[in-house]
Amino acid sequence: MISGGSQPASASVDALVRSEVAVRSRAAAHSATARAHTNIALVKYWGKKDAALRLPFTSSISMTLERFYADTSFTLLPSTQESEFILDGAPVPPHRAARVLDYVAAMQQRHGVSGPFRIESVNHVPISAGLASSSSAFAALAAAFVGAYGLGSRELCEATKSPVKTSGPVDRTELSRMARLGSGSASRSVFGGFAKWERGTDDATSVGVSLDEKPQLDLCLTAIEIDTAQKSVSSTAGMRRVVETSPYYPVWVENTERACSQMEDAIAAADFTGIGTLAQQNALDMHALNMTAHPGFTYFQPETLTAIATVEALNNDGVECYFTIDAGPNIKVLSRSENVEEISRRFRALMPAVTIASTSFGPGVEYLQAQVRE
Ligand code: DP6
Repeated sequence: MISGGSQPASASVDALVRSEVAVRSRAAAHSATARAHTNIALVKYWGKKDAALRLPFTSSISMTLERFYADTSFTLLPSTQESEFILDGAPVPPHRAARVLDYVAAMQQRHGVSGPFRIESVNHVPISAGLASSSSAFAALAAAFVGAYGLGSRELCEATKSPVKTSGPVDRTELSRMARLGSGSASRSVFGGFAKWERGTDDATSVGVSLDEKPQLDLCLTAIEIDTAQKSVSSTAGMRRVVETSPYYPVWVENTERACSQMEDAIAAADFTGIGTLAQQNALDMHALNMTAHPGFTYFQPETLTAIATVEALNNDGVECYFTIDAGPNIKVLSRSENVEEISRRFRALMPAVTIASTSFGPGVEYLQAQVRE
């Protein structure tokens, strides 16, 4: 029996925490809404050793972003209903929903649960390409799934401000594993601030860890949307091609492992210049690697090179900043907060049509809402 009533998605977490229903000890969640923020890799994951388990060749390090996130609800449905996936208010047709529906089936099997469900997900990204990342999508979905089935451990409930306190088996490490199985980069979005995905050697050891949940470092990211079109080579396909065909792949693995340990040192030392320099070089390594695949490919467009030249010009003018680029043509500029305005101004003057959005560190996964039944 549903005893929690139906709370609007916007109900404040505080109100829910205070509610008698939410603290009932035998309560099991029936529906949960989780928020996960997108992360941007400063040292990138670019290649799987095991595609089925999404085990990477290298560790990677990211910054979780405040302004870009996904809110996802997972609701258990009566057995007579069909499962459905609603994205940004519109039902997703079965052929496009397959990745998500198959993922939930695998998570149900992993945790010995079953039954139809409804997923409703809303992306809060002012920029459509490059930041509407699978990292926030799968971290939010994994958390909503765990919340709806009441699988969260006490530690997870505390860390994620869950309005429903359960004492299940899933802690933040298992949540990160589950997110990884949906999309590798999602393993890092479970955590706020700076996070690392330890490559590990198997399902148990390949997990995200927090490097610094609330960094004091003044570090901002300005995303510049050069092109909103769907990328022609998906991340999954791009990384597979370099692993299978680039003679330089072993060099990438060696460099990236070294970059990870140097990045950890730079983060520990709150060294802005070190972080920016390492992130920029690692992005260039990744994009150079793509050209050495057979057939070679690039995510760059002419405007990407213009943007790189603009970052160089800004530095020449005394505005210290660095760029990183993911599996698309768009550029993200790392800077101190005092330079965000000037960076935006320069890009706007050069490319009046582009969308520009700045942000800084965001938190890890949090629950916004839950309903409970006895
Ligand atoms: C360039 O996590 O999207 O953003 O595991 O195949 O879903 P799959 O890949 P995904 O790849 C992200 C690639 C990247 C670098 C990174 O985020 O580390």
